[in-house]
Amino acid sequence: MSQPVSIDPPARQTAHATFMVNGERHEVSFAPQKTLLELLREDLALTGTKHGCELGECGTCTVLADGVPVLSCLALALAYRDCAIETVEGMARGNTLHPLQDAFAELGAAQCGYCTPGFLLAAKALLDANPTPSRAEIVDALSGNLCRCTGYLKIFEAVERAAERLGARGSGLDGRGSGPGVRDSGTAHHGKLPDTESRGP
Ligand code: FES
Ligand code: FES
Repeated sequence: MSQPVSIDPPARQTAHATFMVNGERHEVSFAPQKTLLELLREDLALTGTKHGCELGECGTCTVLADGVPVLSCLALALAYRDCAIETVEGMARGNTLHPLQDAFAELGAAQCGYCTPGFLLAAKALLDANPTPSRAEIVDALSGNLCRCTGYLKIFEAVERAAERLGARGSGLDGRGSGPGVRDSGTAHHGKLPDTESRGP
């Protein structure tokens, strides 16, 4: 005998909430079960955040919530309505790229580019919290992000170059405030990968 089915009235199938994304307020009506990734891509047309494994394993969907890396594929959008969300679209200022974006382009740290938004945001969170990271700290901070193209070395070098440039400016930051760094929240994606050599396509 089949179980009874309960269907909410239509009014309950749409959530209405305000999200702050890249410094802009967005009033959104959406299906309340949507992930943050779906909300960003489908409701806000911010497709710079990439859709990868949807299992919390690749890091390509990484965004920042109050400065902390979050895997948007695993995050219920409604839970982030009070956070300041930052996506890759918010990194540049007009025609001026963030130093991380410049360094990635200069050093060939982006090839196909699919992983790049996630790496950029994870690296930004790191540099905001720690303007002079060691190579080991960079490897650790990016250990939840996978790349099939670059072999990782150029990505690590690009983060180091950006850190040098940001440091040379005197503030160590990009002028948009510092984040609290990586929190051990269960939504941050930082598992551990051992070393530079073991990270390859
Ligand atoms: S899409 Fe792979 S971790 Fe989110
Ligand atoms: S540049 Fe292609 S997956 Fe990283």
